Amino acid sequence: MAAIRNIVILTGAGISAESGIDTFRGAGGLWENHRVEDVATPEAFERDPDLVLRFYDMRRAAIQTREPNAAHTALARLDREWRGNLLIVTQNVDDLHERGGARRVLHMHGEHLNAWCTACDARSRWTGPLIDRPPCPVCGAPALRPDIVWFGEMPYRMEEIYDALRAADLFVSIGTSGAVYPAAGFVRNARDLGAATLELNLERSQGSGWFDASRLGPATELVPAWVDELLG
Ligand code: APR
Repeated sequence: MAAIRNIVILTGAGISAESGIDTFRGAGGLWENHRVEDVATPEAFERDPDLVLRFYDMRRAAIQTREPNAAHTALARLDREWRGNLLIVTQNVDDLHERGGARRVLHMHGEHLNAWCTACDARSRWTGPLIDRPPCPVCGAPALRPDIVWFGEMPYRMEEIYDALRAADLFVSIGTSGAVYPAAGFVRNARDLGAATLELNLERSQGSGWFDASRLGPATELVPAWVDELLG
């Protein structure tokens, strides 16, 4: 494999599955308990804010009872030891990458542990519920919403992501179904710009055909083995 210096890693719900956090489209997955349009859209929030706030209060509380797994800690080791550029772009809204020790993490779909004030636009770290309409820590307005990118909203820091993909020598996708854009298109951006591409996933994803190689299995086995390989 040509010299690798700059790595972009995309992670999805599959990397947190073995920490006990539901994936979105697996059997008994997150969305099956709630229809997508009931919770993850601005329209749903407009129509039934209490239902949406209760749903995310439940999710925000649940992730705080979960621990990072061997895949998260292996990526943190890579982040610490890799001398080139490395960016972990995650679709996940849990904080398991950070609690596993990773630093160069970009949450393109937002974060459960942030609240976003619709009055002053400030984002504040938030671990409790929002259902009681607590005051924004910055402006005091009872106008906080989950800092989650809902369907129909723009993912965060896309320019930064495309810059990283342009510079990437290696793009690795871990635990994502390739069902939701723009993340599902990153592999094509990367390969069109000359990067090698690798998929680590429990099963073939919708985008498997675009990767140079796919390894199938649980992230807690595949990711530590891949990091060991890369760090030699
Ligand atoms: N190890 C590795 N991969 C796994 C594991 C595991 N233990 N368990 C499940 N997977 C794989 C599944 O095979 C599936 O391909 O993880 C993927 C999870 O896919 P989704 O549930 O669709 O989650 P994700 O790809 O992150 O969804 C993308 O969709 O609903 C939106 O905003 C939401 O960020 C989310 C986006």
